[in-house]
Amino acid sequence: MGVLDSFRLDGKVAVVTGGARNLGYDMAEALAEAGAHLVITSRDISSAREAAGSLRKAHGAEVLPLALDVTKPRQVAIVAGKALAWKGHVDVLINNAGGGSGKSPAHLFERSTKDMDALLAANLNGALYCCQAFGRIMAKQGCGKIINIASIAALVGRDRRMYSRNGMLGQPIDYAAAKAGIVGMTQDLAGLLSPMGICVNAISPGGFARGQPKGFIKDYSHATPLGRMGRDGVDLKGAALFLASPASDYVTGHNLVVDGGFSMWK
Ligand SMILES: NC(=O)c1ccc[n+]([C@@H]2O[C@H](COP(=O)([O-])OP(=O)(O)OC[C@H]3O[C@@H](n4cnc5c(N)ncnc54)[C@H](O)[C@@H]3O)[C@@H](O)[C@H]2O)c1
Repeated sequence: MGVLDSFRLDGKVAVVTGGARNLGYDMAEALAEAGAHLVITSRDISSAREAAGSLRKAHGAEVLPLALDVTKPRQVAIVAGKALAWKGHVDVLINNAGGGSGKSPAHLFERSTKDMDALLAANLNGALYCCQAFGRIMAKQGCGKIINIASIAALVGRDRRMYSRNGMLGQPIDYAAAKAGIVGMTQDLAGLLSPMGICVNAISPGGFARGQPKGFIKDYSHATPLGRMGRDGVDLKGAALFLASPASDYVTGHNLVVDGGFSMWK
């Protein structure tokens, strides 16, 4: 197989949780461009349907939109069953659903334990449930690729002055706890599943520019060796395709940091 062919995913089925928008959609789009059929999940089925329509139109991909709240293990099991029944195999799982604090207070001393629990449930438990349900399917197949989306928050502490001087909430400590959990889970899961033919890896993105205050973008860019924040629609696609495709068949238990070098300068 030529090296460019090793990045193809023709006929493979890839599941992207929270894949209806932003980074999840970008990764789904990269896999669709490489020939994959996509299962796009979202808590809101209309968002999943809309994303499915865009992927079909732009890339001629076959797409199955499904409703899923990853914090609900029963829903995860049902979605895994539907994804398998669709084409008879599931080749790639991207555990993308999650995110930061939303509009809740981020500071540890002001944060409610309810918000902490919800964040951990979405970012950590949800990925764990999906690894269990889809891992079982992949183990029976004897092959598969699991990609867990972590964050640089798993690797370095953040300079909260950068957030406060730009009038931002910042990111909660529980987010770092969840994402560090994802990195640890990825390594141990790779140890368990690699002998079954399943590669398990993580991607740790840095901050992506998405309407933050100008001062924050400037400060963040200054703290980044490559001099800028990540770009939606561009900067995560290559990493996701690499880890989803045969190009990475000898890579497992790795955390691929896509942060413009931000964590290196801390
Ligand atoms: N944006 C960044 O700068 C950045 C940096 C590092 C890591 N990440 C991680 O990348 C992933 C995607 O980030 P994004 O910026 O595209 O976030 P986003 O908020 O735009 O998208 C995350 C998706 O996950 C979904 N989601 C949240 N909770 C869910 C639940 N319980 N069940 C099902 N779906 C749920 C959301 O509805 C949304 O569609 C997240 O895991 C995030 O933590 C993002």
